Amino acid sequence: MRAAAPRLLVHPQVPSVPRQMDLTRIQNLNLSYLSTFALRCAVDLDISGRIQAYGRPMPLNELARSIPIPPEKDSMLGRLMALLVNQGIFVQSEAGYQLTPASELLQTEGTNMGANVRLVTDEEVLKIWGRLSEVLKESSERSLFEKVFDGKKLWEFAKEKPEYGKLFDEAMASQSNSVMRGLIASYPHIFDGLNNLVDVGGGTGTAVKFIAEVFPRLRCTAFDLPHVVAKALKSESFDVAGGDMFEMIPPADAIFLKNVLHDWNDEDCVRILKRCKEAIESNNNGGKVIVVDIVIGFECNDPKATETSLLFDIAMMGLFGSKERNKQEWHDIIIRAGYFDYKIYPVQLGVYSVIELYP
Ligand SMILES: C[S@@+](CC[C@H](N)C(=O)[O-])C[C@H]1O[C@@H](n2cnc3c(N)ncnc32)[C@H](O)[C@@H]1O
Repeated sequence: MRAAAPRLLVHPQVPSVPRQMDLTRIQNLNLSYLSTFALRCAVDLDISGRIQAYGRPMPLNELARSIPIPPEKDSMLGRLMALLVNQGIFVQSEAGYQLTPASELLQTEGTNMGANVRLVTDEEVLKIWGRLSEVLKESSERSLFEKVFDGKKLWEFAKEKPEYGKLFDEAMASQSNSVMRGLIASYPHIFDGLNNLVDVGGGTGTAVKFIAEVFPRLRCTAFDLPHVVAKALKSESFDVAGGDMFEMIPPADAIFLKNVLHDWNDEDCVRILKRCKEAIESNNNGGKVIVVDIVIGFECNDPKATETSLLFDIAMMGLFGSKERNKQEWHDIIIRAGYFDYKIYPVQLGVYSVIELYP
């Protein structure tokens, strides 16, 4: 007699199990806006300033009383601090909380990144991001910002809303301070042999003030829109000039453009660079343009810095309809604007590179 065939066990279809690390990656990305707002909360409560003023590790209850928050909210503050400690913004020991070099940036005079945090979390402007997919689907040239704000560009918005404009200028100035320290420490030779320099889109003059103080023989001018230079720092060490960089740029040996070209599309950048070339050539003294901006992926092996560049690129896409550029994209606009040659210096300034353009 033949043995009975074994009965086949029929298993129900088991759905594939997601890898936990993939799930966590999506959850973290999805919730990462809460990190932004935890940082904003730390800025609003001036947690860095309080820990600095305490002068030694600060226990939770001392931090809470210094704000002050009601005692029943201490544990909430502890939960906020737990996230910020986990992210390396503060450190915690049994004795209490201490600053890290990152949280020092939130309270050091002149480089306080707090204005940047408040700018990025501005409630009104923040609302554009939920509509990013809409603008991607349109064939229109207008930016996401213009779509959401009825055709208004960010510069007009900043002019009409003085509080936002002031915050924008403060945020640029604080970032500028850190970048300028790095620039002058890494590449002081860039300013050799120059008699005068115009910082185009120079905001309220933070960068030129820095340059003029380190190189007192170099006469510097901050050039920006008239309502922006009207708020410029009062200083004997540099001049200010109001105008439109698409119309005319004051003549100089060197034109400095920091964090400006990434606000504009390729056509506008070519127009600005042509005006810069005219300004140097009309000065009849050789000269060059010095650009400080991101060059995506250029001599940079740090994935975190690449991520920062790519995040800035999306910010530019939404706010201005512009972009951060890679080496080839910089080459294309520089050559189109009629420059003879250029040199890119490797990243030494956070995510920023320096490009010298020779007419
Ligand atoms: C992103 S901010 C950079 C400010 C500064 N260079 C820095 O690095 O902190 C760009 C600057 O360009 C200025 N700007 C915009 N349109 C301009 C124009 N048509 N002519 C001159 N400046 C302009 C803005 O007012 C703003 O100060």
